[in-house]
Amino acid sequence: MQIIEVHTKSRPSTVFCGAGSAEMASEYLRGAQAFVVTDTNVSRLYSERIAQLFPGAPVCVLPAGERYKSRTSLFRILDAMLDARLHRSSVVVALGGGVIGDMAGLAAALYMRGTRIVQMPTTLLAQVDSSVGGKTAVDYRGVKNVIGAFYQPERVYCDPLFLETLPPREIRCGLGEIIKTALLDDSIGQKIRENTGRLHDLAFLHDLAADCVRFKAGIVERDETESSGLRKCLNLGHTTGHALELLCGRRSHGEYVLIGLWLESFIAEGEGVCTPAYAQEVRSFLSLVQPRIPRIPNAAEGLRYALLDKKNNGGDISFILPKARGEYAELALTPERYERYLNILAGEQA
Ligand code: NAD
Ligand code: GLY
Repeated sequence: MQIIEVHTKSRPSTVFCGAGSAEMASEYLRGAQAFVVTDTNVSRLYSERIAQLFPGAPVCVLPAGERYKSRTSLFRILDAMLDARLHRSSVVVALGGGVIGDMAGLAAALYMRGTRIVQMPTTLLAQVDSSVGGKTAVDYRGVKNVIGAFYQPERVYCDPLFLETLPPREIRCGLGEIIKTALLDDSIGQKIRENTGRLHDLAFLHDLAADCVRFKAGIVERDETESSGLRKCLNLGHTTGHALELLCGRRSHGEYVLIGLWLESFIAEGEGVCTPAYAQEVRSFLSLVQPRIPRIPNAAEGLRYALLDKKNNGGDISFILPKARGEYAELALTPERYERYLNILAGEQA
């Protein structure tokens, strides 16, 4: 069992990564009023286990997928919390992927101005990234994560047992955030370069997830609310990723992160942020997980969504770009300049 402490100012969190952590969560919540939030897929696969782990706890089951990361789902959770007569010392258990984690986290932040929350991530992406660090949100009016709060979970339990039922596509999504982290922390990058044949080995992936959590904890401790700018580095590849997620919307977040990293390696190269050799290395790294690069109808549409990105300041579009192994740089581009790079996805020359 790896135990990682996240020393955040608002409230410290403890992350448990390893087999048996689901039982530890059950033990921790014995005697508390637990309230489980999950989605239809997780409920279908794990309803018996949920009942064993949290006997008698009400279970709020939401439809699965990013399109339900909405105001409507948020209020369904809050209604169910009220119906269950939760109080401030009740504990919300977010049992699912990043969509459930982000929404249940926001509901916990809002209900009675703050209820206890424990994250139990069931996707690789959520175990690697989203369950840690306290960012919670729903999408609204076509803008991703635009209504949200920073609200730290008191505990995070990452049990590898849940990864066994993940379809290959969801593994690829988790690899999106793992590769992003590996570009920021070269000790993780090195571990992947030495084990390229093990990227489908769940034990190896779970071990990488703990490394990624440790790296993220170090960033979040120093910049919990993204105010000094350090935490922005976790958005490597995300400007394009989020824009395409909103434009195309047929795949999951992690796949769009992979595509964002791919396109933004061309921006880093074209704008002189990194050498052509390093940009090629980033693309070779990405090819280990074979991101499926989409065709977009036209660059202007992608641009429209990129202009909504929360990182932007003024009229330009902000990017976190790969610079060298373990290094990144922030760069703003005018919309016209970014459109030239988006043309790569529209099948035209940049
Ligand atoms: P998701 O929650 O939609 O889960 C992906 C799919 O896997 C869903 O269909 C879900 O039902 C299914 N699933 C979940 N657990 C399963 C299991 N054990 N077995 C089989 N199927 C299972 O998506 P995700 O990729 O986990 O998370 C993406 C979300 O996370 C996005 O909304 C993104 O914005 C957010 N995110 C948040 C942060 C953060 O810091 N808060 C960081 C990264 C991403
Ligand atoms: N996933 C970005 C962050 O947690 O800041």
